Amino acid sequence: MRSHLLLAMIASFAVIVGAQTQEGFISLDCGLPIDESPYNNSFNGLTFTSDSNFIETGKIAKVEKDARRFSRQYLTMRYFPEGKRNCYSLDVKRGTNYDIVVSFVYGNYDGLNLEPNFDIYLGPNKWARIDLEGRLNGTREEIIHKAKSNSLDICLVKIGATVPLISAIEIRPLRNDTYVTQSGSLRLSFREYYSNSDEQIRYADDVYDRVWYPYLDPSYRQITTSLNINNSETYKVPKTVLMSAATPRNASEPLLITWTPRPSNAEVYLYMHFAEIQALKANETREFNVILRGNFNHSGFKIPKYLELSTLYTDTPVQCDSEGCNLQLVKTPNSTLPPLINAMEAYTVIDFPQVGSSLSDVATIKNIKSTYRLSKISWQGDPCLPQDFSWENLRCSYVDVSTPPRIISLNLSESGLTGSIAPIFQNLTQLQELDLSNNSLTGPIPTFLASMKSLSLINLSGNNLNGSVPQALLDRRNEGLVLTLEGNPNLCKFSSCKPKVKKNKLLLPAIASAASLLVLVAVVALVFVFRKKKVPSDLHATPSMPAADVGHANQSESSFLSKKIRFSYTEVQEMTNNLERALGEGGFGVVYHGFVNGTQQVAVKLLSQSSSQGYKHFKAEVELLMRVHHINLVSLVGYCDEGEHLALIYEYMPNGDLKQHLSGKRGGCILSWETRLKIAVDAALGLEYLHTGCKPPMVHRDIKTTNILLDQKFQAKLADFGLSRSFPIGNETYVSTVVAGTPGYLDPEYYQTNWLTEKSDIYSFGIVLLEIITNRPIIQQSREKPHLVEWISLEITKGDLRSVMDPNLHENYDIGSVWKAIEIAMSCVSLSSTRRPSMSRVVNELKECIISEKSRIGETRDMESKSSLDFSMDIYTEGIPKAR
Ligand SMILES: *[C@@H]1O[C@H](CO)[C@@H](O)[C@H](O)[C@H]1NC(C)=O
Ligand SMILES: *[C@@H]1O[C@H](CO)[C@@H](O)[C@H](O)[C@H]1NC(C)=O
Ligand SMILES: *[C@@H]1O[C@H](CO)[C@@H](O)[C@H](O)[C@H]1NC(C)=O
Ligand SMILES: *[C@@H]1O[C@H](CO)[C@@H](O)[C@H](O)[C@H]1NC(C)=O
Ligand SMILES: *[C@@H]1O[C@H](CO)[C@@H](O)[C@H](O)[C@H]1NC(C)=O
Ligand SMILES: *[C@@H]1O[C@H](CO)[C@@H](O)[C@H](O)[C@H]1NC(C)=O
Ligand SMILES: *[C@@H]1O[C@H](CO)[C@@H](O)[C@H](O)[C@H]1NC(C)=O
Ligand SMILES: *[C@@H]1O[C@H](CO)[C@@H](O)[C@H](O)[C@H]1NC(C)=O
Ligand SMILES: *[C@@H]1O[C@H](CO)[C@@H](O)[C@H](O)[C@H]1NC(C)=O
Ligand SMILES: *[C@@H]1O[C@H](CO)[C@@H](O)[C@H](O)[C@H]1NC(C)=O
Repeated sequence: MRSHLLLAMIASFAVIVGAQTQEGFISLDCGLPIDESPYNNSFNGLTFTSDSNFIETGKIAKVEKDARRFSRQYLTMRYFPEGKRNCYSLDVKRGTNYDIVVSFVYGNYDGLNLEPNFDIYLGPNKWARIDLEGRLNGTREEIIHKAKSNSLDICLVKIGATVPLISAIEIRPLRNDTYVTQSGSLRLSFREYYSNSDEQIRYADDVYDRVWYPYLDPSYRQITTSLNINNSETYKVPKTVLMSAATPRNASEPLLITWTPRPSNAEVYLYMHFAEIQALKANETREFNVILRGNFNHSGFKIPKYLELSTLYTDTPVQCDSEGCNLQLVKTPNSTLPPLINAMEAYTVIDFPQVGSSLSDVATIKNIKSTYRLSKISWQGDPCLPQDFSWENLRCSYVDVSTPPRIISLNLSESGLTGSIAPIFQNLTQLQELDLSNNSLTGPIPTFLASMKSLSLINLSGNNLNGSVPQALLDRRNEGLVLTLEGNPNLCKFSSCKPKVKKNKLLLPAIASAASLLVLVAVVALVFVFRKKKVPSDLHATPSMPAADVGHANQSESSFLSKKIRFSYTEVQEMTNNLERALGEGGFGVVYHGFVNGTQQVAVKLLSQSSSQGYKHFKAEVELLMRVHHINLVSLVGYCDEGEHLALIYEYMPNGDLKQHLSGKRGGCILSWETRLKIAVDAALGLEYLHTGCKPPMVHRDIKTTNILLDQKFQAKLADFGLSRSFPIGNETYVSTVVAGTPGYLDPEYYQTNWLTEKSDIYSFGIVLLEIITNRPIIQQSREKPHLVEWISLEITKGDLRSVMDPNLHENYDIGSVWKAIEIAMSCVSLSSTRRPSMSRVVNELKECIISEKSRIGETRDMESKSSLDFSMDIYTEGIPKAR
């Protein structure tokens, strides 16, 4: 009788936007590209955002079939070809009752006409099976659920060969005194209002954004009112829903509502919403019995008030009989008027018996994951549950469904860990085995390991730990702890040692010629493989870039950070030894080398006298910058603001800037193509973070090769971001009123419109990328086409790619990855900013370049055979010929 599962576009109706808030709403349009996010739904003003911050896996696609049928949030989707389970992790409030809706539209996005089926889980418990077969309009699942912790995992699980997908996730907080169950959560069977309309009603009419579907059985008669109805009662059913009601067509017959719950023996909760919308005369009464056949019987119900909502609901679960649910509203003999009902909701109880893993273990393992930037596809959702999907590399202990599992073993052997052994490990209080062998961990062995009482095995072999082994740990070993420490050349195996001379780390390859490049890369790779068989889990583990940093400030640095932020000018003089060693001169002043605490190297930028407006913004700006932390941004460790002396103190970047390396000013070393790509990815990640990861988002405004700095491991970091907002570049001009930036890198559209957006950074990044590729000046009057972009376009139409490449590379590159890099760069420098890709896109495409370049180095295949590879043309822009 009911088919309420349409996602089809809702006929537009009068919109009341503005008066209502969307506080606490989570509205995710899955698969929405980050540069189109957020947007306001055109028909009711709901603000949808991209799902990309809530999930690390999956690919995005668009509905291909009948797209016009669907509202915008169903047009894109995220699908999961990889991994058996993929999870969203959403921030919610523990103890809050939420209405959670997930929607799925296949729309033949993959052209295979094969509608998938799969399971969805809420945390560790199965929620529903989704079968899209024959569901041209998609399908949805809705549940009212009380959050058990501050994070909610929604997981999609493969059950066969087909690929799970999801189109939208909508989560709405409800009052905690509504939809209360004795146990379990409420899965929606239907929510309808009685009207012959064809409009679904939801937000903004419904402050909780419940969706109400119209329904009018042929045996019902509709009555309506145009008067205002008081719906301030707890359940806040929308007024528009209450303005119509059903009565039986034959006034002496009962009003009948029937349905079949799934499964048929499920426990059911009912919510019936009544408002008298007919003005009763003195001699008229409306009174009826509400009877659920075989179950409950509420006799003599009278709707309390005219034009006012009252809700009748079951406060204990009821069961329908074997023929389904049969609800009757039966007129009492004394009543002059037939029964009436305005709206109704029916739910079945769904039990989620399994409690999640220990909240503290979950928080800790997530912290470890981010500290060491682990990207493991199975590390999603609950770490221990369901047991079939528990995370790789760890084991848990299980007691029963009502006892949270605990993590008892963690094996991160060969996981590419770098940095020190973080204190966070000690929060895994039930841990029995900890295997961190064969990584690149440095620093001392922390004493806390000795006080982790459950530990019976610790394996730290094959790292680069130094110092001596804490006595407490040696004592534990004597008590039976298995402690393995082999293969740490700088580690003293006893408790007291003489400090050893630090072993030279593998650094960048010093390459003089093309011939030596391959040899050297091979040697480095060999040494590397020998030292530690590292799993290339991400791009940081490339052979020519050993010892890549995982991206966390080391311990000393971060503790320093929290202690001291503001410095006096005297301290600045001390740390730079009276401005002894200038490192260079930047747009905003001279940069000096210095030491903080006598050991930590820093770069101190003394700002040249700035305008009053500049000063006004200085502090606010610095406070903002202090909060910005990303591995690909040079971090600000402090500042000085004393009278006329303004200084910014940054982490020191020992390998200077990209420009010096490209121009050969840093010695004979030529950056390999792979290293260049890696630098480009790093810079792009930094920029992506500024654009999408920061709140508020930031525009860098001065992306150029001299602002891309390299640390000792040749990891690239952006410098000077945000500064140009308060500090004029060059003379007396204010950025806010006059176009700023560095000639050559300047976005022509910004130049014309003075309208600054992150797309201007993307233009500048494109120019940087072209410099990385060609190593040629941006403007050179002697060229046939002085501007680099025009020159490249011209050269490429001549058909010779090698003529634009940096000759220093001696054709040591995968030609396919070069093509792709040029395509990316050219799309970034599109004259129209709308045609420029987002940084996320740029990052992904550049990573693909690295992969093809790495496979060239890895395989001994003929380089030329790759040039015929067909790379996607989706970011193709004018200026590049299609033909290859
Ligand atoms: C979207 O809606 C929110 C409030 O609901 C409003 O603040 C914002 O300005 C709107 N954005 C656009 C682009 O209309
Ligand atoms: C899809 O929705 C349209 C109306 O929007 C309806 O006519 C059609 O029958 C629906 N199709 C299916 C398979 O439910
Ligand atoms: C509902 O929330 C209020 C305050 O947030 C709290 O005092 C009350 O105990 C809660 N009620 C239930 C049933 O959880
Ligand atoms: C609406 O109903 C509530 C509770 O029944 C009552 O307190 C309130 O005064 C009513 N509002 C109006 C405008 O009648
Ligand atoms: C209405 O229902 C009564 C009782 O079932 C029946 O006697 C009567 O014929 C019905 N009237 C119509 C018009 O169907
Ligand atoms: C109620 O009273 C009105 C007159 O006020 C009369 O017309 C009507 O028939 C009465 N209805 C009933 C059911 O007695
Ligand atoms: C409901 O209650 C009424 C009166 O209390 C009784 O006559 C009737 O049989 C009951 N019906 C059911 C289905 O229990
Ligand atoms: C019906 O009305 C009569 C007389 O008005 C009254 O005595 C009786 O209690 C009423 N019955 C019910 C069920 O309300
Ligand atoms: C680790 O444990 C300490 C001390 O109990 C606590 O303060 C800290 O918040 C914990 N960290 C996490 C991520 O749970
Ligand atoms: C950890 O995993 C490695 C393989 O990845 C295995 O060789 C080693 O024995 C494991 N360690 C423990 C303690 O199980």
